[in-house]
Amino acid sequence: SKLLKIPSPKHGHYFGLLGHAPDLDPDLPVKSFWKLMDQYGEIFQLDLGMTYPRVFVGSRELVNEMANDERFSKFTHRLHKEMRPVFGDGLFSAESTDKAWWKAHRLLVPIFGSLGLSKMFDDMQDLSAQLVMKWDRFGPDHEIECIDDMARLAFDTVGLCAFGYRFNEFYTADHHPFMTQLKEAIVESGRRANRPEILNQFYYKEEQHRQENIAKMKELCKKIIQDRIDNPKSEANDLLNLMIHGVDRETGEKLTRENIEYQIPTFLGAGYETTSATLSFIYYLLCTYPETMAKAQQEVDEVVGDTVLTYEMLPKLKYLDACIKEALRIQHPSSLLTRFAVKDTVLGGKYFVRKGQMVSGVWRHFHRDPVVWGADSDEFKPERMLDRNFQALPPNSWKPFGDGQRACIGRGFAEQEILINVAMVLQRFDVKKADPNYILELKGQMALKCIDFKIRAKRRSGKS
Ligand code: HEM
Repeated sequence: SKLLKIPSPKHGHYFGLLGHAPDLDPDLPVKSFWKLMDQYGEIFQLDLGMTYPRVFVGSRELVNEMANDERFSKFTHRLHKEMRPVFGDGLFSAESTDKAWWKAHRLLVPIFGSLGLSKMFDDMQDLSAQLVMKWDRFGPDHEIECIDDMARLAFDTVGLCAFGYRFNEFYTADHHPFMTQLKEAIVESGRRANRPEILNQFYYKEEQHRQENIAKMKELCKKIIQDRIDNPKSEANDLLNLMIHGVDRETGEKLTRENIEYQIPTFLGAGYETTSATLSFIYYLLCTYPETMAKAQQEVDEVVGDTVLTYEMLPKLKYLDACIKEALRIQHPSSLLTRFAVKDTVLGGKYFVRKGQMVSGVWRHFHRDPVVWGADSDEFKPERMLDRNFQALPPNSWKPFGDGQRACIGRGFAEQEILINVAMVLQRFDVKKADPNYILELKGQMALKCIDFKIRAKRRSGKS
């Protein structure tokens, strides 16, 4: 059949060298991608200073084809190269061909299974209890900056459950310096990856600041590891113990000390903004759809009632689980799922893509594909995610945690943490938007976040 040219907008300026880059929304480039996808339907391409134009796809059908490790792979991404100074050969930025990735992957996967996660329940609950207590003490008139408290929760949760380290985000007004250093280092690495490569040499001050941040983080990571070695906690069920003492069954080797040092910012970086942004979207959506909120709260009352939440109750919170899945569909915390063509290939039987060309699935669009979700695909309807409806979805309709061997290792961790928090909050409080007219406004240098979203949490009558 006949091949079609992938459509592309005209450059809005005369600097051919920079391609479409100057035409993108400077604060949130993904806004430009959304606009173009609305306009072009399922595919378009942009010249962003790389060897080949970058392709964007927005339908389930095309994203489904990307989920094939033989045609598309995660790497050789400039973003990963620029992230290497921060994350080294940690799980996120190591190449799949790198022995360090396989070793750490094989060693750490089991702890993210149900047995490992069940042992993290108490610590996750402890941290959500700190959030509940804080909201309780501020009282019903206090305006809670939702994303800020969720960031505190998620950062503390990775710190405590993975590394046995308390950042104590709920006890200080400012964030822990490590959070700021990590954020700045990630943002600057992202900027380096998005600039035409020739320009990076001119950003000397920024690079110096990034290296300072990296050095400070490394210092704390070394200390966390050394403290554990000096004070062994044989009973601790966390990543740190496993990383220090575990032996990979295939190579018979342990992880190197340097690799462990890189896994700490890796897990914090991958695990806190994604999770906290998702939590704030869930509260935003529940507040925007009061009937859904009422149903969710009713389920919590039936399953948890006035008792303390237990691990055994979690699988019974089916409607809450559907709310989480639906929030991840409607508003994913990241913008693009990016892959590289491993060989020349044809997408959807009609679009030619070259070997090495970068193809990005636009979450906002492929997760709302009307062919899969119907004409009301923009609506928040958790019912779509209940048992049979969810199981009947065509493959790769819903994939907030990626796919293939490089899918999110922390999926179960995130789902459990979110479920615990939403259950504990709805058990205790009626949550409302502080400004009833607030409409989601997105911003984000790492994850997409709702900014200026404030809520009020009023203790429910009779709830001690
Ligand atoms: C990778 C999403 C929470 C650790 C990924 C990927 C996605 C993702 C889409 C794959 C990226 C790609 O293919 O390019 C999410 C979402 C989360 C979440 C939506 C929360 C709602 C977490 C948490 C942790 C974590 C809590 C750790 C405790 C990781 C790691 C990787 C990863 C280490 C890299 C895995 C590898 O390449 O081997 N995540 N994630 N994530 N995630 Fe998550």
